[in-house]
Amino acid sequence: MTSYTKIPDDQQPVITVNPAFKISKIEDNTYGGFTEHMGRCIYGGLYDPGNPLSDENGFRKDVIEALKELNSPVVRYPGGNFCATYHWLDGVGPKEKRPKRPELAWLGVETNQFGTDEFMQWCKTVGSEPYIALNMGTGTLDEALAWLEYCNGTKDTYYANMRRQNGHEEPYNVKYWALGNEIWGPWQVEQMTKEDYAKKAFQWAKALKLLDPSIELILCGKEGKDDWDYYVLKECITNHTETLGNGGGTLIDMHSIHRYTSSNDHLENVTGPRAAERSIQLTGAMIDLVHIINKIPPTVKKQKICFDEWNVWDPTRAIGSEGAEEKYTLSDALAVAVWLNVFIRQSRYIGMANIAQSVNVISPLMTSKDGILKQTTWWPWLLFCRHMRGSALAVHLQSGEYEGATKPYWIRGKIETPWLDVSAAVNDEGVVSLVVVNIHDSRSFDAKLEGIPQGASVDVYTVTGDRLDCTNTAEKTEVGVQESKWEASGSYEFPRASMTMLRWKP
Ligand code: AHR
Repeated sequence: MTSYTKIPDDQQPVITVNPAFKISKIEDNTYGGFTEHMGRCIYGGLYDPGNPLSDENGFRKDVIEALKELNSPVVRYPGGNFCATYHWLDGVGPKEKRPKRPELAWLGVETNQFGTDEFMQWCKTVGSEPYIALNMGTGTLDEALAWLEYCNGTKDTYYANMRRQNGHEEPYNVKYWALGNEIWGPWQVEQMTKEDYAKKAFQWAKALKLLDPSIELILCGKEGKDDWDYYVLKECITNHTETLGNGGGTLIDMHSIHRYTSSNDHLENVTGPRAAERSIQLTGAMIDLVHIINKIPPTVKKQKICFDEWNVWDPTRAIGSEGAEEKYTLSDALAVAVWLNVFIRQSRYIGMANIAQSVNVISPLMTSKDGILKQTTWWPWLLFCRHMRGSALAVHLQSGEYEGATKPYWIRGKIETPWLDVSAAVNDEGVVSLVVVNIHDSRSFDAKLEGIPQGASVDVYTVTGDRLDCTNTAEKTEVGVQESKWEASGSYEFPRASMTMLRWKP
């Protein structure tokens, strides 16, 4: 819903959608991925040399095929927390000469057998653009500039030539670069105060843009509702005529925020992503405020949000240093569907979003030596990636509301949590897709649908399962997508604990 009227639970819900009411473009980069040197994401996930399922480069073909289905335009790399001690030079050149290093984010050993060139090649194979997170922990600005030169340099210079010597004549033209990751976190190597980070990020941004003005820089924010966010935005988003010329402009292109949600209680689990929705709105407001306070001319492009880590994750049940292999339930699949509804509803603010992560670590996709498993959360993810593109539509919802506890507690009173969580999009071919997540664990809702022409032929995709805690295993798929047809007739019954996508051409 983009607007909501609360009604008593015993009244019929009403969903009103109008394909003419486009509210904002949905950036394709909303469907971004994330691959970190963590657990089995890279080694055993993307890269598994010697496995009969891998190609001549050691890339898992089944993973590539699955990720291609998502048509994911961008993938973040190499972390995450990992990037705070990563020295990219360790991971280029002849593999036998690459050093093994202790790794301090997840306390493993990094063999460096997969590095920048392998990632670039993997991205090309999958059909995604690379997005690199710089080491602002133990890394230096010199090292960051060298990495940018290695990737994008076109001149006769040292690191551009190193790339050529390593067999890659053409520049990779990496567009997206993050100025560190979660630098505010106590778990971070070289954690910084907001003051120290803002000062450093601004200076790094200036130098990086001098070397390659075509790149987009992503500032390290927090959860989008914190002092940290406001401070670093205010210090780093200024009209910078010194290096950008008289027309001015800002050095920062997007502001990164992260959130993971989870609860063993179903209703807390599925309403948790609403916290992200409020954070997105708050960050959008902070960016506006900073533009006003720093007197940035309206002609200068406004920053969007890069929600470059999001998902359902409880780090106490799927521990980071043990590979964070979450086992997802039906309840989690519905939480992921609500997450994705959030991004559609708030698409005016979203420049990029990256599911954390693409494979094995907190992921909808799991590998074993023998194949891949699509977890419950894969199915809403796939349906959104396939169909919720183009423009977001205004939807009005009348429904009852869940009024119990939320996680985080502060959702209550800041944003509503209706039983039906709704978003809609219209793609470039004029096909409308309406997603309705019925979060109720035991009650179906027969909702009146306004805006679907009577008799229209509607494709229906339903994600549900027998129990809230059912999971998918190698032996049994308990949560998948059921496809059916429906001749529109005014109202539709949304089953308890389900996600339904209705698609029609008006
Ligand atoms: O995605 C797992 C970890 O979660 C990332 O490395 C870190 O940025 C976040 O805390």
